Amino acid sequence: MADVKIIDVSPRDGLQNDPKLISTAEKEKLVKLLLEAGLTSVEVTSFVHPVKVPQMADASAVLDAVAGFENLAAIALVPNLKGYQRAKEHSLTEVNWVSSATETFNQKNIGMTIDENFSQFEELVSQAKKDGIKTCFSIAVSFGCPYEGDVSEEQVLNLVNRVKEAGADRIGIADTIGIATPDHVERLMKKVLEVAGDTPVTIHLHDTRGLGSANAYAAYQAGVRIFEAAVSGIGGCPFAPGAAGNLATEDLVYLFHRMNIDTGLDFEKLLDAADYAASLSSKYPLGRIRHVERKQTKGILA
Ligand code: COA
Ligand code: ZN
Repeated sequence: MADVKIIDVSPRDGLQNDPKLISTAEKEKLVKLLLEAGLTSVEVTSFVHPVKVPQMADASAVLDAVAGFENLAAIALVPNLKGYQRAKEHSLTEVNWVSSATETFNQKNIGMTIDENFSQFEELVSQAKKDGIKTCFSIAVSFGCPYEGDVSEEQVLNLVNRVKEAGADRIGIADTIGIATPDHVERLMKKVLEVAGDTPVTIHLHDTRGLGSANAYAAYQAGVRIFEAAVSGIGGCPFAPGAAGNLATEDLVYLFHRMNIDTGLDFEKLLDAADYAASLSSKYPLGRIRHVERKQTKGILA
């Protein structure tokens, strides 16, 4: 059993904002490479409005393409019940319900108030339990909002408490715009874990300002053991101005392995997946370790 679990979100968060349309077959190949590196939970797509996020228009085809992959727990992001109805027609393990810590971001992202969104989530939980699909409630902009600025701990913790009471299988805390600092992460995540109790908590970090790894370490120190990241550090939210890539999965794995924290992943194969993701992306990938490892002597982690 690994010490920490990593969920790779590169096929969804990593690609969603890319202006170049990436084919379903290429997305399928990325998921396959992630599986070969040992990842078992992958957020493969999102069931959002195809005009608002054209890159995710092939969500159904992507889920069908990966349906036969062994050991894959496929996750799909859904923003509303319509997204869930579309998703559940296909084979998937979990839906990631996206909400926000602030009203303005929620409106810009999914066109609902937090309360409207939350009551749909309660409905989702009861439907998904019957359908045998797990639910995660992710709270975007938990550390700072591009429209409202600072986000209070109370805003996040109140929502965490409501989500736990609603019966979510997982709660995601997201630094959508990469604004968090390690002290903030450690302080907030300790409280989130306390409020969440038995409900597993994930942290979702962006490396916009180069603090992704430091923040991951702070979250680990706070007790977080499930992390979301994207190979080669691609990604970003289309509704957050200036948003940059996710913390690179291979950077996170490098950090953990060097600290003797087992991720259960094969670092070399992860680099292969990261190379492929970088080749698909039309943006400059943020991950650092891949560039270093590809130029220097291999085997530092062997
Ligand atoms: N998938 C596809 N179509 C959807 C949909 C979904 N999940 N939800 C709503 N629609 C359709 C409706 O059927 C309706 O179609 P019609 O005009 O043909 O009747 C239309 O969209 C408008 O419906 P409405 O409920 O008013 O939705 P909206 O326009 O307020 O959009 C979202 C709501 C959530 C679908 C949209 O804001 C969205 O896709 N946001 C993207 C969020 C995202 O991906 N963020 C990045 C990841 S965090
Ligand atoms: Zn993100």
